[in-house]
Amino acid sequence: MKKLIFTAISLFATLGCMAQDIKLPNVAMSKTSMSVVETLAKRHSVREYSEKNLTTQELSNLCWAACGVSRDNNHRTAPTAKNRKEIRLFVFTAENVYEYLPVENKLKFVCKGDNRPLVAGTKAFSQDFVLTAPISLVMVADFKLFGSKDEHAQLMTCVDAGIVSENINLYCESVGLATITRATMDVEGLRKLLNLTEDQLPILNNTVGYEKTIVK
Ligand SMILES: Cc1cc2nc3c(=O)[nH]c(=O)nc-3n(C[C@H](O)[C@H](O)[C@H](O)COP(=O)(O)O)c2cc1C
Repeated sequence: MKKLIFTAISLFATLGCMAQDIKLPNVAMSKTSMSVVETLAKRHSVREYSEKNLTTQELSNLCWAACGVSRDNNHRTAPTAKNRKEIRLFVFTAENVYEYLPVENKLKFVCKGDNRPLVAGTKAFSQDFVLTAPISLVMVADFKLFGSKDEHAQLMTCVDAGIVSENINLYCESVGLATITRATMDVEGLRKLLNLTEDQLPILNNTVGYEKTIVK
């Protein structure tokens, strides 16, 4: 119990109050996660979340699974066309927005505030469950990093974002976290918030947290 309270306080201290970068702990390779086959069989989209937060360790593991450094600084857990590594991952919490930097294994502070409504959707269509879940991960394609913005580049960056999203889906399923791949979001609002140029495009997002029904 003491440990739980300490973890909750330290997560609040690291993710809640500080408008600064967060150095993440090294990924913890769990020996208790499900097999790949069982994970594939059980993977499903979740649209009802509890407000239970992730620990910093869980967040670190999640970002690493999405597109972290794998076998050396030149390769990621998610493959990309021509190994361009052009998918940038933004982490939205109830307090701040960060960008995950895989090589540095840190969350770079982007801006303060609960900007999850921009991930939930637009005035025309929005999904409220995004506001309950503690984390939203937004995948942004960077055409400068890809080296082109032609038709082929646009196709490949969508494929690459999909692979990052599926990494998140499978990782979450395997460790008991809940998630869903989403295309719905306020792309123009996110562009403004994240100071994106014409060469950077939000493609997909994943809501992440704990499923409402299974929290005790
Ligand atoms: C590219 C893509 C975009 C999606 N966008 C949304 C979305 O905006 N909102 C939503 O509720 N579900 C979205 N989904 C989730 C799908 O509806 C869901 O994966 C599908 O119904 C199959 O259900 P399952 O994931 O539980 O197997 C999206 C899935 C994909 C792959």
